[in-house]
Order: sequence, then C-alpha cells, then structure tokens
Amino acid sequence: MADSVFTLRWAILGAGYISGKFVSDIILDPKTRGVTDVVHKLVAVGSRDAAKGKEFLAKITGKDDHPAKIYGSYEEVVKDPNVDAVYIGVPHPGHYDLTTLCLTNGKHVLCEKPFTVNAKEAEALIQLAKEKNLFLMEAMWTRFLPVADYISDLVKGGTLGDIRVLHADLSGDFDIQNLPLTHRILDPKLGGGALLDLGPYPLVWAIIAMYEHPANNKQHPSAISAAMLKTPLTGVDAHTSFTLNFDQLNAQAVLTCGITISSPNPALVIRLRKGNIIVDAPIYRPNVVKVQYLAKEGSDEVVKEETKTFKNGADEQHGGSGWHWQADEVARCIRDGKIQSDKWGWDKTLLEMKIFDEVRKQGQLVFPEGVEKLV
Ligand SMILES: NC(=O)c1ccc[n+]([C@@H]2O[C@H](COP(=O)([O-])OP(=O)(O)OC[C@H]3O[C@@H](n4cnc5c(N)ncnc54)[C@H](OP(=O)(O)O)[C@@H]3O)[C@@H](O)[C@H]2O)c1
Repeated sequence: MADSVFTLRWAILGAGYISGKFVSDIILDPKTRGVTDVVHKLVAVGSRDAAKGKEFLAKITGKDDHPAKIYGSYEEVVKDPNVDAVYIGVPHPGHYDLTTLCLTNGKHVLCEKPFTVNAKEAEALIQLAKEKNLFLMEAMWTRFLPVADYISDLVKGGTLGDIRVLHADLSGDFDIQNLPLTHRILDPKLGGGALLDLGPYPLVWAIIAMYEHPANNKQHPSAISAAMLKTPLTGVDAHTSFTLNFDQLNAQAVLTCGITISSPNPALVIRLRKGNIIVDAPIYRPNVVKVQYLAKEGSDEVVKEETKTFKNGADEQHGGSGWHWQADEVARCIRDGKIQSDKWGWDKTLLEMKIFDEVRKQGQLVFPEGVEKLV
C-alpha cells in the first residue's frame, strides 16, 4: 500500500526552541506511533541567519548533511516550489505577517500558539486562507494528543454526569528577576506575559470539555471575568486568572497562568456531577489522569478511582514528544483537500483570541504600538 502514503513537504520559519521540538518529532518515522497513511519530509529551514539555521538543522537532526535547504530569510522559503506547508515558530507578534507571507505565496500554514496577538488578526488570516483555498491551523498540539481524546470522551460520554466546574493552570517559574528583559516571556514588544504564552493551555481544556460539548451547541461563554497581576520589570502579566461561564451547560471554567511559580498538582480538575477527572501537571501534555466515581450525584464520597498513565500524552510506547500528532492532522487535511481541521478548527482559534482580547482589556494590558498588526 506504499502508493497510498501521503508525503507532506515542510518548511519551518524560525530556528528557535519550539521549532526544534516540532522538527525533532516530524522527522521520526510515523510508524513508531502507529501512523501509516502520512509521512513528513523536512525540505527547508528558514532563519534570519543562515549560519544559525545550519547549526539548528545539524543539531536537531543529528546530521551535518541533512538535505533540507537552509535559507537566510523567511521570504526565500516561501518561494521554494518544493515546500507544501510551512510551520511558523517565531514569537507571536510575527505570526500575522509571516502567515500572510506564506498564504500569499501559496503555502499551507501551521502557526504556533497563540495564533495571533488579537482576534482581528486571526479573522483576517482566516479570510485570506479561504480566498487562497489553503490549509490554515493554529498549532494547538495538545488537542491532538491521544490523552486529549481520552479526557474528551470521559467528559462527553455521560458516565460521569453533567459537567459543572473546570479548574486549570499552566504556570512555570521563569526566574524572571534574572531573565534578560528582552526574553520573549517578559518583553512587551514580543507580546510577552503569561496570558498569550501559557493561557492557551488552560483554555484548551475549557474548549475541549465545555465549548466542544455537544450540549453547548458551540455557544461562546456568556461572561468572562479576568484579573491580571503585572510584573514591574516590564509591565506584562506575571499572573492572570480568567473565568468563563458556559450557560448552556450551567458550567464554569476557572483558568489561571503565571510565570513566577510552578503549577499546582493536580493542575487540571474537571468536576462532573458523578465524578472528577484529575490531571497532573503539565497540562500541555498530561501523563497521569485519575478518574473518581462518586457514590451519588454531587456527593463527595469517592467509591471508585482509576488511574491511567500516558507517555508524552500517548497511551502506548510511541516515539517522539507529542508535537507530531498535529502534523499528522495537517497532512491528512491537506491530502483530503480541507482548508481547516475539524478537530482544531478556526472557530476555536477565534474563540481563543476573542477571550484573550477581553482578558487583556479587563487586565489593561496594552502592548507597544506595532505589536498588534491590526487593531
Ligand atoms: N507549542 C508549544 O509547546 C510552545 C512552546 C514554547 C513556545 N511556543 C510558541 O512558539 C513561539 C516561539 O517561541 P520559542 O520558545 O520557540 O521562542 P525562541 O526560542 O525565542 O525562538 C523563536 C525564533 O523566532 C525567530 N524570530 C523571528 N523574529 C524574532 C524576534 N523579533 N525576536 C526573537 N526571535 C525571532 C528566531 O529564529 P531565527 O533567528 O532563526 O529566525 C527565534 O529563534 C511563541 O509564539 C510561543 O508562544 C509554543
């Protein structure tokens, strides 16, 4: 059946941390994770500095002679006719311009989270993808991990009853006192702060458990309530909390993120009328999921507890670190002529960006001029 294997030819923009993770995973043989219908081929690396791009490619692939082309500018990458899809791994203020560059040059795009700095930029990119008939997706890799489907099925399956409350946190101690103020997590010019960088992860669980819930009928939260605590170092948010009401479900999500202290454990608790789903940190790639069954609806008496463990978010001994599942989705969508994913479609990215706009408004976090390309 070799003929039916679809090969997607990738380029990456930005030779930084997350691009390294993505490349390490897509160069693995997909069969190591039981995938036999698609394969990924890295054909180009774009860095603002070709020497850095070369060093990156050798380090990540372990090969000095890896055949991918190295370009010293992003503009050259999108002119390469051998590139089908581009992964964008630069700080978020670059996402709008680079996604536009790729789409206008006929390339499909997988762009890191947060997809853009604001909802207006996201809307414009989606419109452009439609006009160009090209695939476009936010790299919300957590949604594609097998553990996400496991938790999603538990919430929506009915055995645990109606969902009521979800608590989720993603935080880390970034040692900000000793970090250069130009680090992307601190620098307002790079869209720094906890919300845009870490906030997508608590939010993805609210989207999976509540927004996606069939009884929610795709309704947006009716109320958003947010507070931000800013660091005096640069004025970006060091800790942010935001609460979302999902009226159709009578349910509420309580979400937090921060950059001065680690997440608590558990870091994700989903409370349903007949049970709880309890997930250890880190919630971007959960490995331990505990399910508690209650004596009766609303009770605090646990009658049964089950724990399932995952490795890098997968339920078998799969290779890689989990960033490849989203790449498989991109390849399948492009193979099938789709321009958005059913699993992480544009509606979810737009919801995310609209929520972040509102949270920033309530928290009065304003970025310097030019960070938001569309206002
Ligand atoms: N999915 C995840 O798990 C995950 C994890 C971490 C970060 N992220 C997201 O990925 C994006 C990049 O984060 P990162 O941690 O990879 O950052 P990083 O290590 O600083 O790398 C970003 C790369 O972007 C390029 N770049 C282009 N314009 C830049 C600018 N003005 N300033 C700095 N770098 C610039 C640089 O590559 P060249 O010099 O080679 O051009 C740089 O190496 C962010 O949006 C972040 O939220 C996602």
